Amino acid sequence: MFVLAAAAVALVAGAVASVAGFGIGSLLTPLFASRLGVQAAVVVVSVPHFAATVLRAWRLRASIDRTVLVRFGVASAAGGLAGALLHGRIHSPALGVVFGCLLVFAGLMGATGLSKKMRFGRRTAWLAGVVSGGFGGLVGNQGGIRSAALLGFDVSREAFVATGTAVGVVVDLARLPVYLATGWRDVARAWPLALATTASVLAGTLAGEKVLRRIPGARRLHVGALRFGFVKPIEIAPDDRVFVLTGAGISAESGVRTFRDAGGLWEQYRFEDVASPEAWVRDPALVWRFYSARRAQAKTVSPNAAHVALAELERALGDRLFLCTQNVDPLHERGGSRRVVHMHGELMKSRCERCDRPPFEDEALYETADAIARCACGGRIRPHIVWFGEVPMFLDDIARELAACTVFVTIGSSGAVYPAAGFVSRVRHARRVYVGPEEPDNARAFDEHRFGKATEVVPTLFSVRS
Ligand code: APR
Repeated sequence: MFVLAAAAVALVAGAVASVAGFGIGSLLTPLFASRLGVQAAVVVVSVPHFAATVLRAWRLRASIDRTVLVRFGVASAAGGLAGALLHGRIHSPALGVVFGCLLVFAGLMGATGLSKKMRFGRRTAWLAGVVSGGFGGLVGNQGGIRSAALLGFDVSREAFVATGTAVGVVVDLARLPVYLATGWRDVARAWPLALATTASVLAGTLAGEKVLRRIPGARRLHVGALRFGFVKPIEIAPDDRVFVLTGAGISAESGVRTFRDAGGLWEQYRFEDVASPEAWVRDPALVWRFYSARRAQAKTVSPNAAHVALAELERALGDRLFLCTQNVDPLHERGGSRRVVHMHGELMKSRCERCDRPPFEDEALYETADAIARCACGGRIRPHIVWFGEVPMFLDDIARELAACTVFVTIGSSGAVYPAAGFVSRVRHARRVYVGPEEPDNARAFDEHRFGKATEVVPTLFSVRS
C-alpha cells in the first residue's frame, strides 16, 4: 500500500520537476523518511532522483549553459561529494532546521525580487555551488538552494532550468556512488519502493513535458514562477549605450535560411561560386540567379517578435541603440526599426559595378546574362552586397559605437565571419551577451549566454530604466 501511494506521489513529483525544474527530493524524501528514517530515505530517493534528472537533462541538453554548468557544477559536485561523505557520519535534527531555514530564505529571495538584484561573481558562484551541492549530499535535497543560487547568473529562462537540471546530474554522479557504497543495505531492503518510484517519476517527467508543450510558446515562458520567474532582463540605465549585432539567426524563425546551420545556404552553394568578386567576373548570371532567388523569397517573409522587439527598443532608447546587422534582408525595417546599419549590404538594393552612382532600391530578378541591367556609364548592375573578400560597410561608425557602448549583444550569429565576429573582443569595457540556441565560434569572448531562439529570448531581454 505504501509503495503504491509513494508511486503516485512520485508520478506527481516527476511532473512537478518537469515544470518547476526541481521537486523530486522535496516531495519524496519526507515521505520515505516517515517509513525508513531520514538517513535511509535520502539514499533510496537518490535512485529515482538520478533517473529522472538524467532524463530531464538529456531532453533539455540543447539549452544547457555550459559556462555556468562548469562554474557552478564543479563546485556543486565537490559539495555533493563532501555532503554525501558526511551524511553517513552526522545525524542531527538541527540540520533539518537549518536546511528548512535556507529553503525559506531561497523562496523569500525570489518572491521579494532580492535575487534579481544579485549577480554572482566567480567566487560567490563557487561558494553557492558548494553549499547547494553540500546540502544535496547531506540531506538529499538541493533543488531549492541550487535554484536560488542559480538566480544570480544571467541565463535565459530555458537555460535556467536546463542548467539547473544538469547541475543536479553532476551532484548525483558525485554523491550516488558514496550513498550506494555506504547505504546499499537500505536500497536492497527498499528495492520495491525504489523501483516503483523510479518508474513513476520517469512517467511523471514525460507527462509533465507533455503538459508544458501544450501551453503556447509565449505563455509557456511564464508558466511556473519557480521555473521561469527568476531570469533577469538586461537593465538599461539612462547612461547606457547598447550595441546590438544581429546575424542570420534572428531571421531564421521568419523563414529565411541561415548560412551555416544544417540545411543552411552554404550547404547548397559554394560561396566562392555566388558571393565573391571572382564569381561575379566568372559568371554574373549565376550570381544574379542566387540573389534573385533570395529577393523572391524576401518578398514573402515577415518580421518576427525579435525584430519587433528591437524596433521597440529603438523607440525607447533613440540613438543610444546602435543596431548593426550582417543580414541583407529587410526584416529589421519591416519590423519598425528606422536606423539599421547593414554592414554586409542590402538585398533589395543594387549598384553599378563600375561608377560611383549611389546604390538604389531594386527588387528586379535577373535570370540571364542578357537580362542584367546596365548603368548609364555602361557598367553592369550588381547586387548591393558585401561579398567574401570585400570590405564591410560603415566600419568607421561601427568602431565609434563599439568604443562608446556599455552593453553589447549579439543575436543569432555563428561568430565565424570577421570582422563582425571580432566586435565582441573590442568591447571588453561593456557587458557582452550572446543570444541564440547554441554556442557561437567566438563564445568565449562573451560574459553571458541567453540560450534560446531569438523570438523566445529577445522580447523580454531588455528592461529600460528611465
Ligand atoms: N534564433 C537565434 N539564433 C538562431 C536561430 C534562432 N531561431 N536559429 C539559428 N540561430 C543561430 C545559429 O545557432 C547560428 O549560430 O544563428 C546562427 C547562424 O549562423 P550563420 O548561418 O553563420 O549566419 P551569420 O553568423 O549571420 O553569418 C555571417 O556570413 O555568409 C556570410 O555574409 C553572410 O552575413 C553572413 C555572415
